[in-house]
Amino acid sequence: MKAAQLSALVLALASLAPPVQVMAAQASQPQAAINGYQPAWWKEAVVYQVYPRSFKDSNGDGIGDLPGITSKLDYLQQLGVDVIWLSPHYDSPNADNGYDIRDYRKVMAEFGTMADFDTMLAAIKQRHMRLIIDLVVNHTSDEHHWFVESRKSKANPYRDFYFWRDGRPGPDGKLLPPNNDPSFFSGSAWQFDPATNQYYLHYFAVKQPDLNWDNPKVREEVYSLMRFWLDKGVDGFRMDVIPLISKNPAFPDLTPEQLSNIGDAYANGPHMHEYLQEMNRNVMAKYDVMTVGEALGISLAQTPLMVDDRRHELNTIFNFDAIRFNRDGIKLKPLDLPGFKAIYTRHAEGLDKHSWDTVFLSNHDNPRVVSTFGDDSPEFRVPSAKLLETMLLTLRGTPFLYQGDELGMTNYPFRSIEDFDDIEVKNYYKANVLTGRIAEAAYLEDMRHTSRDNSRTPMQWDASANGGFTTATKPWLAENPNYAQINAAEEVADPHSIYNYTRSVIAFRHDHPAFIYGDYQDIDPGNTSVFAYTRTLGPERYLVVLNFESKPLTYTLPGGITAGSLMLANLPTKEQNTGSLHLAGWEARIYKLR
Ligand code: NOJ
Ligand code: CA
Repeated sequence: MKAAQLSALVLALASLAPPVQVMAAQASQPQAAINGYQPAWWKEAVVYQVYPRSFKDSNGDGIGDLPGITSKLDYLQQLGVDVIWLSPHYDSPNADNGYDIRDYRKVMAEFGTMADFDTMLAAIKQRHMRLIIDLVVNHTSDEHHWFVESRKSKANPYRDFYFWRDGRPGPDGKLLPPNNDPSFFSGSAWQFDPATNQYYLHYFAVKQPDLNWDNPKVREEVYSLMRFWLDKGVDGFRMDVIPLISKNPAFPDLTPEQLSNIGDAYANGPHMHEYLQEMNRNVMAKYDVMTVGEALGISLAQTPLMVDDRRHELNTIFNFDAIRFNRDGIKLKPLDLPGFKAIYTRHAEGLDKHSWDTVFLSNHDNPRVVSTFGDDSPEFRVPSAKLLETMLLTLRGTPFLYQGDELGMTNYPFRSIEDFDDIEVKNYYKANVLTGRIAEAAYLEDMRHTSRDNSRTPMQWDASANGGFTTATKPWLAENPNYAQINAAEEVADPHSIYNYTRSVIAFRHDHPAFIYGDYQDIDPGNTSVFAYTRTLGPERYLVVLNFESKPLTYTLPGGITAGSLMLANLPTKEQNTGSLHLAGWEARIYKLR
């Protein structure tokens, strides 16, 4: 065979081979540990979450879509993002904005087609970025064909794909749910279905029935759909409420204490680790992928059981200690800085070199980072947003940024219940405001601070109508009216913008492995105004100083430490080689220590 023919054959064979083989070969070459950590691309990555409904609308129907994402990949590449986490893009009737999946192998019609997905994935790879997708397999939509079948009869082959139980007779003879489990979205977690006179379990909305993972056929279906997407070339999964997949089939009533924290009560079922290990063996072990579990109900002490690399379950998880620290249920409370900082020390001490962490303070289930942990007033929005980006990108763990935070997008000025879309807000309103338990004004005030819709308003691309998100007269959820001042076009062009600052901190992180594999130490844990910590890798030692107050202060570094050379700052300063720092409100600096 001639050389040209041979290379044509090799090319043809290569295009037939699933990407898994190439990946697995790469994955099997062990690298030397760095500071005791096994290096991995997902440890070095900066992840950016895209909420597709709100990212960019390409066809003028008011709904973000996949071609819209593809059209904005240069913006993400320029920011320096390594991995995109895409919230659910699957076929769904949207009871919970895509977290209720009707068909795991189909793209939501509003978001485009499978060809659009393939084009987007190829364009992501072309830009040397990766894509992880949302795996939502604790529950499906009630419109998924498994559930459509399941509810038909007790003898249906899909009956045991879900949890069906008899009701229990109440005092007046009327049927009551099988136990007292509440749904995260208000009301009972059991829904009566007249077709077979039984109840089915739904920890979330009525339209989100929980899958029965004790049925091996369910697990096989899940592994098979995971392979379907991995074989297309996606680089892993963010796993929705994954600690909830294993249930106690006896469904005993929850105790009053358990009822006060149902996340904890529902997580960590009897077979959770067994199923995650099986999933790893059957799926993840065969690909070079990243997995991050949404670890509702998993304490720090339990975390290594899920992520220790010798256990072969998940790579890492989202722990909600930090993001929910200034929350009391639906209420926002002032940030107690020493308590907040202590979380990061506990994590550094509680997770050893085999357990990798994540760092995040926002996502599609939480309000905007600058409005929640910073100060979104006109005076301090820019410096406080930059300070928070500095912190997220220099703490210990893989950072996850949420779309729009790089622009300093803020919470939305909701006026009435009609302004909201979220099923969680609406169900809570029905259950508590309409029944007179909570006053409407108080509820709306809380929702202005904590509702999930704050972060779901469309991306603000430019100062044109609807922030350049859509050409439709009305987007699916109103654009924040501040888009004329806060938008990507302005910020990309302005060298002093939050976007360009975030870009420089991401580049700085990429250039300094101390921020990835280095040790972490809080040097002033009791300080109520300043968060100051070091990251150390061998001889390389850096100091991060963050003023969480809006007032200026003089900060004397503890223990006679001298700040060395100034590497980065969110405000103009030249101060360096001194032990006494004059910090403006919300000032953030990074020094290299000698
Ligand atoms: C967690 C997701 O992040 C949230 O948006 C969703 O409502 C629930 N899981 C149910 O899937
Ligand atoms: Ca669209």
